[in-house]
Amino acid sequence: MYILGLTTLGDSAAAIIKDGEIIAAAEEERFTRKKHQSGFPFLAVQYCLDEAGITIADVEHVGLYWKPWVLRHKAMQAVKAALISPSMFKARADRGVSGVGNSYLGMFKYPKLIRERFGKSDFKFHYLDHHQTHAASAFFVSPFETAAILTWDGTGEDTTTLFCKGAGNKIEVLKRIKLPHSLGQFYSAVTNYIGFDMFTGDEWKVMGLAAYGKPEYYDFLSKRVLTTDGNGGFKLNIRVLDHHLAKYYQFSDEVSRELGGPRVKGEELTERHWNIAASAQRVLEATAIHLVKQIKEMTGEENLCMAGGVAFNSVMNGRIFHETPFKRFYVQPAAGDAGCSLGAALLIWHQKLNNPRKFVMNHSYWGPKFSNEECQAALNEAGLKYETLTDEILLPKLAKMISEGAIIGWFQGRMEWGPRALGARSFVADPRRADLREALNHKVKLREWFRPLAPSMLEEHGREVFGVEHHDPFMITVIEVSEEWKKKIPAVVHVDGTARPQMVSREVNPRYWNLINEFKKLTGIPMLLNTSFNVQEPIVCTPEDAINTFKNANFDALVLENNLVLRSG
Ligand SMILES: [Fe+2]
Repeated sequence: MYILGLTTLGDSAAAIIKDGEIIAAAEEERFTRKKHQSGFPFLAVQYCLDEAGITIADVEHVGLYWKPWVLRHKAMQAVKAALISPSMFKARADRGVSGVGNSYLGMFKYPKLIRERFGKSDFKFHYLDHHQTHAASAFFVSPFETAAILTWDGTGEDTTTLFCKGAGNKIEVLKRIKLPHSLGQFYSAVTNYIGFDMFTGDEWKVMGLAAYGKPEYYDFLSKRVLTTDGNGGFKLNIRVLDHHLAKYYQFSDEVSRELGGPRVKGEELTERHWNIAASAQRVLEATAIHLVKQIKEMTGEENLCMAGGVAFNSVMNGRIFHETPFKRFYVQPAAGDAGCSLGAALLIWHQKLNNPRKFVMNHSYWGPKFSNEECQAALNEAGLKYETLTDEILLPKLAKMISEGAIIGWFQGRMEWGPRALGARSFVADPRRADLREALNHKVKLREWFRPLAPSMLEEHGREVFGVEHHDPFMITVIEVSEEWKKKIPAVVHVDGTARPQMVSREVNPRYWNLINEFKKLTGIPMLLNTSFNVQEPIVCTPEDAINTFKNANFDALVLENNLVLRSG
């Protein structure tokens, strides 16, 4: 039985499962080449059908990650906002949050739209609770028979935080926290206050910047803006800080008085902004730990699954993993809304159709793949000279080039699912060279100096580098690097002495493991610097995308499967 899952607003994506196992999953942005592509994921759906080798007629169920009729709650929210402040209502209405002029109503036409675009089919269409699709996306592919599940984001319908317990093929909802009390929207408000764009990935900039600052404003934010209560919940005081007001720089007088005024886009980033970021990050972490302790009490579980945009906060995850009583954790690589497409399909298969679980997601490689011949055809078409080498020759050669300072665009196998490049579409470089952080951020990726770069490392070396065992294949946790290693790998250690490693398994990704191992043989360092293969656009998907990036950016060599292109050649 084939089930298709859809995410359609925000980070659009599609996923297809067959008898409960993932066949394919991908974000629409990779195909349209527009970051955070929103709207119906036509190309991702077509890719899923092609990968499965079927047509829409073979699909029995389609699941959507949203219940559009919950809109009425949003409308009520808008009325509440209007009572608090007329200008706030105007800001909300402009963003479509009030239910006026937004496209959620279009969701009712999806079944018709799918049949018009992809052909006749008598699939059953399901509108699903947003946070339950988040929860399903994590728990049902986790290695746990039972687990506590916490999902948190900006908002999904009117829910911002969901506490669940998963057991076998069922997820039970224990508690909901609703708008306006939202951890995601708190972080977005701060993102905007510091002059970045919210909801476009700029939230990560706040986390990166936080490492440079001191939590000078922690008391204000934790007492006046984001407060915890005795029942394991929290409150966001939107009278003081609300992201809807950012567009007009209409933050409250109180917040401007306490934090200084908001930063206008393009204005210089100063220590005050670092300190605001550090304070907000610290408040988020404290609140998150409060909620995690609550769900531990509610469930008594030893395993914790997390999903939702907030679960991408890898610094927060590091603290949760090390400071709460849970023993084991699972966050799947597309923890944000894109992942809800997969969750929607899984929720139908397990929760609605009552099928047992048998599948664990231990890697993120669910996107398109291209053969050596397809790569060669693309290179020929582009008029690029290349050598085709076996791995026995290619991998040691690349390791040597990397050890001599080369930055390599590495393209192999199926594209990653989720926003992290994990060795299928990655830039790789030497982690020992501090100057490479600057070179990669500025000259290659054309982005801010403070963006941290992360290592991909042989998982066998976790204890040696971090002093503790560490198993995180999805680069979702920040961990302290041991003193001895901090000095050895400056390009991948953040200013606060931490790193966000991808632990690479020999079994799961043998080719990437072998490349890193060749580098280790030469240098004694069991890791490579890894950052996503893209320049100001979505991560590359096809050989053509990789070639375009190679032509327009400044890095030394391109590897498409077994084909090597040198910049000088
Ligand atoms: Fe979400």
